[in-house]
Amino acid sequence: MFHKFAALFLLVSGLSLPLHSQTRPVDSEGHQWWQHAVFYEIYPRSFMDSNGDGIGDLVGIDSKMDYLKSLGVDAIWLTPCYPSPQVDFGYDVADYENIDPMYGTLADFDRLEKDAKQRGIRIIMDFVMNHTSSEHPWFLDSQSSRTAAKRDWYMWHDGKGPGLPPNNWISEFGGSAWTFDAKTGQFYYHYFYLQQPDLNWHNPAVKDAMFDVTRWWYKRGVTGFRLDAVDTLFEDPQMRDNPVLPGLNKYGDPKEENVYNTKLPEVHVVLRDLRKVADENNAVLIGETWTKDVSELKQYYGDHSDELQMPMDFMFTKVDKLSPPEFRRQIAAVDSAGGWPVFVLSNHDIVRSYVRYGDKQHDQAIAKLMASLYLTLRGTPIMYYGEEIGMENNDPTRKEDVKDPIGRVGWPQEKGRDGERTPMQWDDSPNAGFTRGVPWLPVPPSYKTVNVAAELKDPSSILNTYKTLLALRHQNRALLDGDYVALNENDANVLSYLRRYKNEAVLVVLNMSAQPQDVSFDLSPQGFPAKSAHTLLTTTATGSKESSVSHLSLEPFAVYIGAVSK
Ligand code: GLC
Ligand code: CA
Repeated sequence: MFHKFAALFLLVSGLSLPLHSQTRPVDSEGHQWWQHAVFYEIYPRSFMDSNGDGIGDLVGIDSKMDYLKSLGVDAIWLTPCYPSPQVDFGYDVADYENIDPMYGTLADFDRLEKDAKQRGIRIIMDFVMNHTSSEHPWFLDSQSSRTAAKRDWYMWHDGKGPGLPPNNWISEFGGSAWTFDAKTGQFYYHYFYLQQPDLNWHNPAVKDAMFDVTRWWYKRGVTGFRLDAVDTLFEDPQMRDNPVLPGLNKYGDPKEENVYNTKLPEVHVVLRDLRKVADENNAVLIGETWTKDVSELKQYYGDHSDELQMPMDFMFTKVDKLSPPEFRRQIAAVDSAGGWPVFVLSNHDIVRSYVRYGDKQHDQAIAKLMASLYLTLRGTPIMYYGEEIGMENNDPTRKEDVKDPIGRVGWPQEKGRDGERTPMQWDDSPNAGFTRGVPWLPVPPSYKTVNVAAELKDPSSILNTYKTLLALRHQNRALLDGDYVALNENDANVLSYLRRYKNEAVLVVLNMSAQPQDVSFDLSPQGFPAKSAHTLLTTTATGSKESSVSHLSLEPFAVYIGAVSK
């Protein structure tokens, strides 16, 4: 009866939607596909090399589609693989509607998209909105003369005086954010490298051209975008100086507060409009949103949930210590923001979580603990390639080996981001099976044991823990749709919570300490008087099928996940 009803509801609501609007719910809660999905970030340079040039490519990714399917991911986010001079390894785009030959062709992309779709995996592209490459034809035109057709597509300004930039804004990647161009005698603005000039989003022509880029990819089968550096789209039209803070940053520049060149209110107008285009295509917008608190995060969802469906929350990339009170506080904050939470442990800009959370003694157990945390919370997780096998950072030890330019400018305080971008470790053959050539970045010696092939054979590996968790997430209604209830909130060592959905619930217990812990729960106030839980996952060797909720013993850094019913 219930099912018939749901089907009828879907049919009717489907019919009443406008022709282009395809935001269909996937369950009776009205959730959209991306709320039930697990996303997986792929750095194309480093995932799989098919032609032996040492650089990963689309054919390589395609060859691992069965792996991704068996892992249990629903969508892959490809970081930029567009034509690019690769100054910022693809985040300097010279053509938004093509594939860089080093990664393949549009035909390779189409095949990848088709093979993914066959397996129920969606493709999310990276949309570098804030800036283009200085070699993009738009910028070449803009730079050519003060009267060029696209002069106003970028931010050109006179200096304050001979040799002086228009104001004190500092680039995120070191030095002034302004570069003088002798040809036309003006400065242009770049929040990142000087080869990444900022687009002028106050110009409607820029907005139109960029929105068309998203339509172009939607037509090719893409189902969403991760919006790069979205905080930095707009700058103060009056160009006021930023307040200067005491001290110098790691590049030796004065520290400043980016009041006038980040998070301007205009960005929300653009996001609302971009969302309309996304909704016409049943697509999702994910934001690289570096919010400092929940009130900023709320803004990115939009006052009427009409901006980003998935503004990334980076709290797990910043807590960096296994602190139950701190996690409790932050989870509750994000959970209360009003939107659908998004959880991220690491990415291509951040030291890998294996290193950040590890204590060098229990690293394997801690990796499983962190996986169990962000894959069982209410919200959508975004994984980073290699996290599922416990890949570590492999940082350069000599300045001359550094590939990421910020590592050369900031050495040794800032070693750059090479360490978290090393090749995926597939097996124990040379270069971890990533390439038959010379990899663009070196694999760490630990690849001999830390690799997909070896971990598939070990039932208690990090990889198999991820697979179990991902399978659970997809089958268990409480994990998909249940609310989040913090438990034992005064416990300083063990983080515990309940995910409740109607008559079922999942109890998650995470020992974040190096000592064994005994915990006890009374779940009757939460509506679950049952005395025992049915074990779904435990990393404690002696774990049994049924466990008493009034007395659970956990080894150091152990995980217990169990189902309870009314
Ligand atoms: C984002 C990307 C980073 C890049 C920067 C500039 O932060 O994640 O890798 O360097 O934008 O595009
Ligand atoms: Ca290649």
